[in-house]
Amino acid sequence: EKKVFRIAIDGPSASGKSTISKYLSEILAIDYLDTGAMYRAITFYLLENGYSLTDENEIEKGIKKIILKYDNNNIIINNKILKDELRTEVVTKNVSLISSYSSVRSKLVNIQREIAKKNSIILDGRDIGTVVLPNAEYKFFLVADPEVRARRRLKDKNSRLNMTFDEIVEDIKRRDYLDSTRAISPLKKAEDAIVIDSSKLTINEVVENILKSIRGI
Ligand code: CDP
Ligand code: CDP
Repeated sequence: EKKVFRIAIDGPSASGKSTISKYLSEILAIDYLDTGAMYRAITFYLLENGYSLTDENEIEKGIKKIILKYDNNNIIINNKILKDELRTEVVTKNVSLISSYSSVRSKLVNIQREIAKKNSIILDGRDIGTVVLPNAEYKFFLVADPEVRARRRLKDKNSRLNMTFDEIVEDIKRRDYLDSTRAISPLKKAEDAIVIDSSKLTINEVVENILKSIRGI
């Protein structure tokens, strides 16, 4: 009988969650769900359809119209596959506000739990170890200095940001602040999560670290 297990990877913006989760999912041959991309998808949809992002009642109406599916690592909203749209500056700037609304969070947390039931899987986000999967078998909390994270973002060709180094540092600090001070499901280390500071570690070293603690050696 196959043993199903879940790995929760949380941490602030640009701490390496998605890169490391992708590698781990290949090495362990299990699924991977990027929950940040789901919050970005909702933000994209609301912007695209002209909702006032500060009006919580409007947002609640808007998200009732959304059918979100996750298939083959693709996020599909009302039959449209979203890819590059998710990482634009306007989505990045607004996603922390949208993810502070309870109607948005409860919709996505339900979907995430449903997906995590089926197979062994890695979920990355902010509240996976604390709220989405408090019983996950393995929990990690990635951190790195804001300047290190900004430098990595700047080098990252996929991030599609037309920002200077200083602007990226500011955006990272602003989202760290919003994400860790919001009322519902703030960014917070689960008590039983293992902290990995990658400021001075390569991607491979972080992956090795995680594999060692999963294998218990
Ligand atoms: O890639 P980056 O770390 O910049 O962000 P992301 O993981 O794509 O997440 C974008 C935003 O979604 C975060 O800044 C949070 O505001 C929100 N988020 C959340 O609230 N809860 C999650 N589980 C994942 C993301
Ligand atoms: O998903 P999250 O926003 O936490 O971060 P990411 O997009 O996976 O990582 C941000 C950037 O940092 C990517 O370009 C990674 O390749 C890079 N990175 C690194 O250079 N060294 C690490 N130890 C971790 C991430």
